[in-house]
Amino acid sequence: MDLKINSFDEYKEQYALSVSDPDGFWDNIAKTFTWRRPYDKVCEWNFDEPSVKWFLNGQVNITENALDRHLETRGNKLALIWEPNDPKERAVRWTYRELHAKVCEFANALKAQDINKGDRVVIYMPMIPELTVAVLACARIGAVHSVVFAGFSAHAIADRIQDAQAKMVITADGLNRGAKQVPLKRVVDEALQACPSVEKVIVYDCVGWEPKMVDGRDIPWDQAIRGMAKDCPPTAMDSEDMLFILYTSGSTGKPKGVVHTHGGYMVYAAYSFQNVFQYEESDIYWCTADIGWITGHSYIVYGPLLSGATTMMFEGVPTYPDPGRFWQVCDKHGVNQFYTAPTAIRALMAYGEDHVLSYSLDSLKVLGTVGEPINEEAWRWYHIHVGKEKCPIVDTWWQTETGGIMISGLGHLSPMKPAHAGYPLPGIQPVLLDQEGKEIKENGVEGYLCMKYPWPSILRTTYGDHERCRVTYFSHYKGHYFTGDGAKRDENGMYRIIGRVDDVINVSGHRFGTAEIENAINANGIVVESAVVGYPHDIKGQGIYAYVVCEDLPKDPSAIETARAEIVETVVEQIGKIAKPEKIQFVSGLPKTRSGKIMRRILRKVAEGEPDKLGDTSTLLDPDVVEEIVKGAL
Ligand code: WT7
Repeated sequence: MDLKINSFDEYKEQYALSVSDPDGFWDNIAKTFTWRRPYDKVCEWNFDEPSVKWFLNGQVNITENALDRHLETRGNKLALIWEPNDPKERAVRWTYRELHAKVCEFANALKAQDINKGDRVVIYMPMIPELTVAVLACARIGAVHSVVFAGFSAHAIADRIQDAQAKMVITADGLNRGAKQVPLKRVVDEALQACPSVEKVIVYDCVGWEPKMVDGRDIPWDQAIRGMAKDCPPTAMDSEDMLFILYTSGSTGKPKGVVHTHGGYMVYAAYSFQNVFQYEESDIYWCTADIGWITGHSYIVYGPLLSGATTMMFEGVPTYPDPGRFWQVCDKHGVNQFYTAPTAIRALMAYGEDHVLSYSLDSLKVLGTVGEPINEEAWRWYHIHVGKEKCPIVDTWWQTETGGIMISGLGHLSPMKPAHAGYPLPGIQPVLLDQEGKEIKENGVEGYLCMKYPWPSILRTTYGDHERCRVTYFSHYKGHYFTGDGAKRDENGMYRIIGRVDDVINVSGHRFGTAEIENAINANGIVVESAVVGYPHDIKGQGIYAYVVCEDLPKDPSAIETARAEIVETVVEQIGKIAKPEKIQFVSGLPKTRSGKIMRRILRKVAEGEPDKLGDTSTLLDPDVVEEIVKGAL
């Protein structure tokens, strides 16, 4: 199962092969996995419908490949290390054999609650080992998991449960986050008032709160697994059967359920993991993401376990009990590969380097970043103080929709350039398109980042609404998958991601649609309308700037503050704390064209602090409003 490329020359060879003979290239990789029935065709696709299928008619179960396959040779190797929020609490260490038994046991518990192949299960849990168990247990029996990040509000959970028509929710009483504890079960209870599809709720006891249990619906985790066998045969899944749904924000409307499938996702998660991180058999690998996001799915759970790696999960936050926690944990467990987000690096940078200099960080070999462009200053800090100038930094560009890392360095093999994601992985064919959709072939250019050929873990659909998938990703440029990002390609062909070109804001590596936040703001009764844009934020990358029109514009400072707090509260209720607008400017009107379209370009320039660069405003319905907005800018 070693899928690793070992030199940059080999990368170039493999890349060329993957373009000249994609089927042969992927067949070589895919056949190293355990298939219940071999596939009879590697790939079939068209980007018009779109319809993409990989490893056709193969039967497989991703957990058989992530667990059972390793038992003989790695049964006693650590599969999972869990570092708790409280540094004084004991870490959990499970071998492959132990994780296998836990997953089987919980899979049997799910079956006993009448969860069957194809049923959707929403998981809303803390970053504890049982979250990994829950995810894998679903996959084991062919149930479709949909993990919802534990920072989302009741309203947001309800939306997702309804969209997925989930039959079960798995949650916990609450979670530990630094010095705080946060309720989860109570939030689920509130959400479920609007979710008749949910029949059962399994509740893990994480913080000892003994929450109220609903008779006939709620089952404590311990009770659910009582008497369950620790062996459960993996359900044979078709390659193209759904593995999971993960909701993500787009430029319009409600979040959409990105669908990934068993076969293709499995192959690409393992292949990309081993190559990007250059994982070696005895390494300890740590990704600090939350399993509620795609990064956690692919690079805490599936990629590492499929590769027989030791993967670490962390319950806490980077600043608890102090801003040296990440580095203390790296030393404590001897972490070899460390993967985090630029926003975390910037936040820690702000506390000064003393916190990092007190740890040796000797074990580190490869550092990674993900989620947003990394600025050069943060890159250098990471390189010098964390990597001691000896660790390559892999800047990994990818998306929920791509399932795995698409453009990135491969450990120490690839040339490295700050703020550049670099070269595409073998099998990935990025192109830059101009306004008219024409491919720009030269180097030293900039354009819309698209893919002209499928890869095994490309999204298959958006759950329940295939047309939305087609329109969002495959209709802008015929025959291409459109990423929504703009990118540059330098003289050497290295890619640098500039950022979103659609109405998506990236706050601390989390994606929000401007429309989604506007809808949340508008849910407050005092609001008439609103417009949201992103602006550069030192730590979060982008912050949320909202222009709000109210029924009665608040005038005195205390009324303004109250109104702001109320609006923020509404957003927290509708989406969650992670979507809090940083700045709210009350305005008497929004700049609109004569046809009623909001001119966001203007609002963006004001939010960015560049009101002298508004450009052409002659098509505005009411130019006076711009003057007022510029004057009142925050
Ligand atoms: C968007 C995808 C993929 C896991 C985390 C985010 C931005 C992602 C990078 C990077 C510059 C990046 C893009 C992309 N992004 N990685 N290395 N450099 N930008 O997943 O929520 O699906 O967001 O994040 O804008 O489109 P996501």
